Amino acid sequence: MAKAPKAAKSSAIPVGKLTPDEAEAELARLAADIGRADEAYYNNDKPEITDAEYDALRRRNLLIEKRFPKLKRKDSPSDRVGAPPSAKFEKAKHAAPMLSLDNAFNDDDVAEFVKRVRKFLGLKEDDAVAFTAEPKIDGLSLNLRYEKGELKIAATRGDGETGENVTSNALTIADIPKSLKGAPEILEVRGEVFMSHEDFEALNKRLVAEGEDAAPNPRNVAAGSLRQLDAAVTASRPLNFFAYAWGELSEPLADTQMEAVQKLRKLGFKTNALMKRFDNVEKLLGHYREIEARRASLGYDIDGVVYKVDRLDYQDRLGFVSRHPRWATAHKFPAEKATTVLEKIDIQVGRTGKLTPVARLKPVTVGGVVVTNATLHNEDYIVEKDIRVGDTVIIQRAGDVIPQVVEVVQEKRRKGVRRFKFPTECPVCGSHAVNEENPATGKADVDKRCTGGLICAAQAKERLKHFVSRQAFDIEGLGTKQIESFFDEGIVKEPAGIFTLRQRQDAGAIDLYRYDLDDKGARKRDKAGKEKPPTNLKSVQNLFDAIDERRRISLPRLINALGIRHVGETNARLFALHYGDFKSLYEAATKAREEDAPAYEDMLTIDGVGALVARGLIDFFDEPHNRDAVDRLLDEIDPQQAEAAASSSPVAGKTVVFTGTLETMTRDEAKAQAQTLGAKVSGSVSAKTDYVVAGPGAGSKLKKAEALGVAVLTEADWAALVAR
Ligand code: IVH
Repeated sequence: MAKAPKAAKSSAIPVGKLTPDEAEAELARLAADIGRADEAYYNNDKPEITDAEYDALRRRNLLIEKRFPKLKRKDSPSDRVGAPPSAKFEKAKHAAPMLSLDNAFNDDDVAEFVKRVRKFLGLKEDDAVAFTAEPKIDGLSLNLRYEKGELKIAATRGDGETGENVTSNALTIADIPKSLKGAPEILEVRGEVFMSHEDFEALNKRLVAEGEDAAPNPRNVAAGSLRQLDAAVTASRPLNFFAYAWGELSEPLADTQMEAVQKLRKLGFKTNALMKRFDNVEKLLGHYREIEARRASLGYDIDGVVYKVDRLDYQDRLGFVSRHPRWATAHKFPAEKATTVLEKIDIQVGRTGKLTPVARLKPVTVGGVVVTNATLHNEDYIVEKDIRVGDTVIIQRAGDVIPQVVEVVQEKRRKGVRRFKFPTECPVCGSHAVNEENPATGKADVDKRCTGGLICAAQAKERLKHFVSRQAFDIEGLGTKQIESFFDEGIVKEPAGIFTLRQRQDAGAIDLYRYDLDDKGARKRDKAGKEKPPTNLKSVQNLFDAIDERRRISLPRLINALGIRHVGETNARLFALHYGDFKSLYEAATKAREEDAPAYEDMLTIDGVGALVARGLIDFFDEPHNRDAVDRLLDEIDPQQAEAAASSSPVAGKTVVFTGTLETMTRDEAKAQAQTLGAKVSGSVSAKTDYVVAGPGAGSKLKKAEALGVAVLTEADWAALVAR
């Protein structure tokens, strides 16, 4: 498409050098480009540019407007916040969480997986353990809930806990039975919705013939089709469904994975014919290669092979680690590669100040997706691979991971291209950027970090984005885009500011009605039936309600939301469980500042928390402006006490130490079992220990327990206790 020559030229001029005429043309171009990006992102489920590119457009628009306030357009993008992530569908809470799979990237990873399983179960060398192997379908997962044989709810995965209710759309998919005969009273069937290559090509032909853009890949269309407000549109797009797992059940389907899937097939579901059972790593890998060889002719997209422990009693014993089952893994196909030109290197500043070099590339298609950006990791990486702007580079993209530049094609290097100079100052706030020392290793970190802390707008903004993210406060209607504009316009500068929005609006201090918050994502249609961008409002009240709903917040979510270095979801959960409530955590972190303080030692007794993580927490609370920000936040919210995982268990909330050899289970299994029952597992004995479970060979820990008068149990005592 030919662009207006003036606009094309002015797009390259720095804001400070634009003439008023150029600025006007540039504002027009930016309004159009941002509008198009919004449309693609929000209405078509098909982003055309990356978040960073989008941000850059908005930033440039804002800067030009600041310099030429009179030229600001009536339809200026700065006056509207993009629509929130779709709230088109009712939410559906899953009866059993929908988890994701851990990944294996090569044969060794698979061997490791099998070894881990065997070790956890404590199997002897000659004990066989069978695994199933089946294609990993590249679609989107769906949970189908049948009650008394009738399909009641079809829900997408969402964040794993809550998905979207897409029942009316699922009903239009031929592979999904509406009713079942001979099914358990409650049966949740899980599987993948996808589109075949044939249907995808036919659909694209039709779209192009109708003057629409072609869809990028089948997965995207499948997702877009299933998440259509109008079930008639879903019905016009042929989708398929393979069943491969289950959620809540009123009675077990079978004793093994293989038989359970066969049962699903008998009930009327399509299952994958390439699912087979094997009893050693070599055979699993053999099947992987077989599936890989047939990949191109399957007629649908797959991105790897999933291995699952066959015996369901083993699966139960193995359980889960945070979001992944220990009993399964996804062996991914190798990343796809492509060659392109590195046009520019930008530096992004992350939530913890980390400077990440990002490669801006000449657009290139890799495995069906257009890639324009790739990560360059850090300064060392650029030096090691001698990557320079202007180079021809090989990039690779594996599944949903960020693409990376893996190699320079040296022969194609033009004369005179210069080495990249990594900045020593933060490109956003100008503070020094340094390689910190890692306290665990004493070595300088490979990453440069901005030392500006909250003074740095980039860090403050990224922290806020993290604060509202899915695994943190997860406020409906308040996503990245809204945070961006609220922050840029000074409406929300810190977490507490989110919770004072209503009050400030009521007092007339701010005017959120200027923003486009769009509640249901429901778009009006124009005469031609095309969806119109949101016009405005009324959703402000919905946003306030959504914010109020989150004032009561679980402890792990709150801790994770603070964005403390080295404290993500998993460690947040450990801290929550250990300290029980926010006040105790806060006090402990403050008292633990000295490394010889009892509070510090107590922190390190948390199984899974080492010096680095402890430092992250302590340093965070050591910073006065963090404490102030947390105090202001605490004035607004109501953190809940951590609830022990299974409060009815006699060991819930108790601290347990395992020592010596266990005979009926492995140490890993004992630990996992205790945690599932809500106990805290500690690596060392202190006065706070409730039980020491001692097997043969127990030494100093047993002695210490006796000295402190801590209850000592045999493995049999423990088994009897948890069986209660
Ligand atoms: S089993 C506990 N089997 O992969 C996990 N998942 O990364 C149960 N997927 O969300 C999933 N093909 O969407 C399983 N044959 C297969 C699969 C499969 C595709 C997807 C699924 C899941 C994701 C996990």
